Amino acid sequence: MKTAEIRDKYIKFFEERGHAHIPSASLRPENDPTTLFTGSGMQPLLPYLLGEKHPKGTRLVNSQKAFRAEDIEEVGDNRHTTFFEMLGNWSLGEYFKKEQLPWFFEFLTNEVGLSKDRLWVTCFAGDESLGIPKDTESAEIWKGLGIPEERICYYDAKKNWWSRSGTPDKMPAGEPGGPDSEVFYDFGTEHDSAFGAECHPNCDCGRFVEIGNSVFMEYIKKEDGSFEPLPQKNVDFGGGLERITAAANQDPDVFNVDSLNVVIEHLSKVSGKSYLDEENKESFRVIADHMRAAIFMIVDGVVPTNTDAGYFTRRLIRRAVRHMDKLGVDKETLHGVVAPVVEVYEGVYPELTNKKADIERETALEEERFRATLGKGLKQLEKAKGGKLSGKEEFTLFSTYGFPLELTLELAPELNIEVDVEGFKVEMASHQELSRAGAEQKFKGGLADGGETTTQLHTATHLMLAGLRKYLGDNVHQAGSNITTERTRFDFTHPEKVDRETLDKVEKYVNDAIAANAVMELVEMPKKEAKASGVEGSFWEKYPDTVQVYTLKSKDGTVWSRELCGGPHVKNTSEIKGTFKITKEESSSAGVRRVKALLE
Ligand code: ALA
Repeated sequence: MKTAEIRDKYIKFFEERGHAHIPSASLRPENDPTTLFTGSGMQPLLPYLLGEKHPKGTRLVNSQKAFRAEDIEEVGDNRHTTFFEMLGNWSLGEYFKKEQLPWFFEFLTNEVGLSKDRLWVTCFAGDESLGIPKDTESAEIWKGLGIPEERICYYDAKKNWWSRSGTPDKMPAGEPGGPDSEVFYDFGTEHDSAFGAECHPNCDCGRFVEIGNSVFMEYIKKEDGSFEPLPQKNVDFGGGLERITAAANQDPDVFNVDSLNVVIEHLSKVSGKSYLDEENKESFRVIADHMRAAIFMIVDGVVPTNTDAGYFTRRLIRRAVRHMDKLGVDKETLHGVVAPVVEVYEGVYPELTNKKADIERETALEEERFRATLGKGLKQLEKAKGGKLSGKEEFTLFSTYGFPLELTLELAPELNIEVDVEGFKVEMASHQELSRAGAEQKFKGGLADGGETTTQLHTATHLMLAGLRKYLGDNVHQAGSNITTERTRFDFTHPEKVDRETLDKVEKYVNDAIAANAVMELVEMPKKEAKASGVEGSFWEKYPDTVQVYTLKSKDGTVWSRELCGGPHVKNTSEIKGTFKITKEESSSAGVRRVKALLE
């Protein structure tokens, strides 16, 4: 089976059960300051899991593009990838365990055709210290579906609890989470005792692969560290599309699934090497995963850079270049991987097809830069010949010269250099903190409140853009936005400095709109129609064919803002607390200005 077939079947299955199909959000969350990437289907839905009403109702389904930066080092085995598609269905305070588990079971056995004898399931063992009971209810449901007791395993919170930041102890106050029940497919391969005496679903030998996780998101962490029930009991289901397809094909190697295998085939051609050869497997897999991920990143606007999100795209491409070298392909050929990947997703993600040439150009450029950089990094490394390289020095080599640690380690013996790998990891970890949703200091204040304040600032940002367009003209468009609980930072196209007088007018415009009790209206319409009717928006290509248009209108009919967006927003501007103030105006880049503003 192909991924497209499984994706279609899944969406249809849940549509038939009353779920509204929502589009995949961008890999790069626009207004979520807590994380660099979308790593699960629930992330864009957070406000709705906390109780806000979703415009499409209480049952949702989709296939979400996901990127997990923390898995980059895991790539190389039969099942880990950094980019994947997550099939997801949600109950926003509606159905719960007794619908969810039988539905997923029915999907796997009837639609995908998996034998129930190959399915193992896990349930939460309970945690007395948190006062959260053992999930015998899920176990009973599984038994009723014909999963025998010996294939129902209980694990503690390390394995059977899900939240964006991981286990209960890692969760900041205000974060929702809950016990989960996972389904594993038993590929029947022989156990490798290097991973432990006995094999079990969570063993890492590769025999079992997790293919779906039903999270019963019913708790929220309080300031004092205890848990209390959320006002609504949610289901947050996520299942890896590629892994389910691998199970359907009874092949434990996820890289044999069509969307990754096209790269493997391409690489076999250009390298003349065989994927079946154990010695080449890791390189084939790293290139296939990393390039597919980089392609999706670039399409969502994350081009290779040295900072923030772009740093990961850079790392993906550079690691792929290294592995190309290992396969003996040392000419600049990485961009050749783009075409076959784009082709596999034809019709599913039209933005890939539309931007194919851009992706090829960015890839080729980054490969070229890296090959030039490699020479410079090598020179730096040679300076340390016969001595020691501290963690900091290695990190500089890595971040400034783009010289990967694995390359330093490969060359170290030749140059007789001792490398402080631990020190490097400490440096690296503090950098990676950025990418982890669980970075606690980033959640300060809690998401429940944080959610509200950022939502208010988000709506205020729409009003500010409308004000800027009113006073500076229609050439003003959004060029970037970042909102925290403290402030909104907003980049927009405009050739010159905006004087204080104009900023005051824009401020007044926003405050007038707040005072006017304008109501937020959400309308869905075809993208073409929205564009034609003059709805304000940037990054049109990032949006699906049907878009959401948010309009702020007051009783007297005044339209204060009309903009393309993914939400969330306040329902009425009266919910915006405080006075809007623009605190800073500066240049961002050529032709782009940056303002910072807050609610005082
Ligand atoms: N949000 C859950 C996960 O990512 C479904 O596993």
